[in-house]
Amino acid sequence: MWHPSRVTEAVLLVGGQGTRLRPLTINTPKPMLPVAGVPFTVHQITRARDAGVTRIVLATSYKAEVFRAFIDDADLGIEVVIATEDEPLGTGGAIRHALPFLESGPDEPVLIFNGDVLSGVHLEGLVAHHRDTASDVTLYLTPVEDPRAYGLVPTDHDGRVTAFLEKPKTAEEIVTNNINAGCYVFRRGLIDTIPAGRPVSVERETFPGLLAADALVTGVVDKGYWLDLGTPLSFVQGSCDLVLGAAPSPAVPSIGDFLELPGAQVSPDAQVHSGSVIGSGAVVGSGAIVNGAVVFDGAEIAEGAHVVNSIVGVGAVVGAGSVLRGAVIGDGAVIGRGNELLDGVRVWPGAELADGSVRFSSDA
Ligand code: GTP
Repeated sequence: MWHPSRVTEAVLLVGGQGTRLRPLTINTPKPMLPVAGVPFTVHQITRARDAGVTRIVLATSYKAEVFRAFIDDADLGIEVVIATEDEPLGTGGAIRHALPFLESGPDEPVLIFNGDVLSGVHLEGLVAHHRDTASDVTLYLTPVEDPRAYGLVPTDHDGRVTAFLEKPKTAEEIVTNNINAGCYVFRRGLIDTIPAGRPVSVERETFPGLLAADALVTGVVDKGYWLDLGTPLSFVQGSCDLVLGAAPSPAVPSIGDFLELPGAQVSPDAQVHSGSVIGSGAVVGSGAIVNGAVVFDGAEIAEGAHVVNSIVGVGAVVGAGSVLRGAVIGDGAVIGRGNELLDGVRVWPGAELADGSVRFSSDA
């Protein structure tokens, strides 16, 4: 039986191009990139399932076929329906496009998730707040230390959202540290009011429009774990936090200092730490150090290489003695031995880098 503090349907927004994570997102849409051993989307779907969601609509656009192929074979214990936009409709347009795929009645709550947020928010609490306040929309808000990079969402004493502010430019404009954390509860009937068939931004158009129309938009501040996995560094951090057990997900294969997927080969004298993942069929050679990094399936970290806070794409090769710190290596790229790639360097899929001149201990 439907319980008022539960919610049975959700929409997961997974159609973005993930430009900040290029070149990893050239072949794979961001929510399908493996994080702690499974596609990121699986962490979100299983968290929603455990909160009582029984049906989820995946709002896809960019590389929709990758989701389709995965979902066809997956058994996640929840009904997953795929809605695909012909043209990307933006966050609000995607929610509106998902409407015909929803079965909820007009007054029932529907959960909406951005497809790149890792969080420990108490979903039942969010829905209970939505019901208790009879809100039109309830937003999950998270406090951030430095809010300058984000739009701000101030609330009044009753938790009612008073404004959606652009990124603050001066100290005076920082009126709150709370930002939109990328998860909402919508009264289903409100989704009907989003214009159909054209791009709509839920952040820039729908939410401000609701305030202007005097709709009841409330915020719930949750101080628990929150991370937007949109950049390479935060992607690595999210994966490591999941492996270390610092971020919550029912889908992590095993929690520990590192995660070695079936078929990985790690040399006994290699050092793998700090929540690193070694993908299926990947090889880590003698004396290599992998620290707080994500090594995708079939990649090779040759002897003596150091891979720190970095991502190594599917089948990519990091040559002997090479040093990676804060680097992203695209699928199938080959980094010759003795290279040093630091601080945000990105290597495109299939690229080949000649040997460098960094020496390591086993060099003559
Ligand atoms: P960047 O390009 O790196 O900013 O990443 P992104 O494409 O994911 O964009 P952004 O982080 O702003 O998107 C927020 C969420 O909405 C993500 O989960 C996206 O997948 C999703 N999203 C963005 N645009 C669309 C769209 O046009 N259609 C659908 N279905 N989802 C979208």
